[in-house]
Amino acid sequence: MAVKSLRMGVVGTGFGRYHMEGYSKLEGVQVHAVCDLNLEEARFFANQYGAKHVFKDYREMFAMDELDGVSIATPNCLHAPMTIDALKKGKHVLVEKPMATTPKEAEAMVAAAKKAGKRLMVEQAMRFAPDTQLLRAYFDRGVFGEVYYAKSSWIRRKGWPKLNFPPGGTMGRGVWFIRKEEAGFGALGDIGVHLVDLAWYLMGAPKPVAVTGMMWTKVAVPLLKKKRLPVEVDEMAAGAIRFENGQLLAVDVSWDAYNEPMQEVRIFGDKGGATLFPAKVYRGEDIMETAELSTTFGAYEPVDPYAHFVACIRNPEMKCIAPGDQNIQLIKMLDGIARSAQTGKEVRL
Ligand SMILES: NC(=O)c1ccc[n+]([C@@H]2O[C@H](COP(=O)([O-])OP(=O)(O)OC[C@H]3O[C@@H](n4cnc5c(N)ncnc54)[C@H](O)[C@@H]3O)[C@@H](O)[C@H]2O)c1
Repeated sequence: MAVKSLRMGVVGTGFGRYHMEGYSKLEGVQVHAVCDLNLEEARFFANQYGAKHVFKDYREMFAMDELDGVSIATPNCLHAPMTIDALKKGKHVLVEKPMATTPKEAEAMVAAAKKAGKRLMVEQAMRFAPDTQLLRAYFDRGVFGEVYYAKSSWIRRKGWPKLNFPPGGTMGRGVWFIRKEEAGFGALGDIGVHLVDLAWYLMGAPKPVAVTGMMWTKVAVPLLKKKRLPVEVDEMAAGAIRFENGQLLAVDVSWDAYNEPMQEVRIFGDKGGATLFPAKVYRGEDIMETAELSTTFGAYEPVDPYAHFVACIRNPEMKCIAPGDQNIQLIKMLDGIARSAQTGKEVRL
């Protein structure tokens, strides 16, 4: 049976260009429209991926009847208004991380998706990394037993968006990344959103009940001031999240630090455990390295986020790997760390 061809629109030509690339590789999927305030760039990518329509105003793009779904890859503060508008106009939405800048926004987005009866998926790209999917398969088969603790860390050196990233590059180029009103969070929302999510996903996404945290902006301050850039968002955040069955997740992330750059996720269970960078599983006393992990449960098929979003649109019964409703909890955890840092108190969720 021939499948219906899907027409997709993409707002934002920074990371959004990877959404276009992702859709363009899929059979029966067309990049139909591109939108950006920078019309020249929108035209360039529309041309590259064969999109017929170019817009500056996202509302006009979402008003097109023939569009089936949209990707939203704009500054964080625009995720909620754009997502809600797209859903109201009957489009499925794939929105970039962090899904929203407040839990209230995230809840409104999910309510809009429910009302519209459309998919809302969050581009938690690191969930789709082959090693993450492999470890999750071990979690799902009970290899770790009861997971009681997890630890997650991403420390960069000279990794501030705008300040340290090349202006002509594809990542961290907008000054909005370091403006509180537009980004919502600093390092916590930019890279903490990935690392909290990875550990939480590999713990089986238990329900968070309390959060404590601190945030600092220290190392890059002299350079930010020298370059007359805003000193508004967290450079480093650290926190601990307690879950309903007594599990704990400890996390720290930083855009800059006088320390060794690293990424780490560790999962501690009563039957086994795992590390993610590199992927390793401790199955009781047996240690399984990455190469062995991919063959244990049969041939491993990598999951591409764009293909998965399209598959979710085509099959309403399909379980989404990164659904909007689950992501509300993630935004609550990040918001909890920020609120705890402000008040000096534990935040109950
Ligand atoms: N999943 C990932 O691994 C990953 C990686 C990078 C960025 N991101 C996320 O993607 C989003 C965008 O980040 P980026 O690095 O592409 O930023 P960017 O600043 O490079 O690009 C954002 C684009 O949005 C456009 N834009 C702004 N306001 C607009 C509006 N009202 N209408 C239309 N276009 C508008 C800008 O002109 C710009 O081209 C952010 O939420 C970021 O967190 C995710």
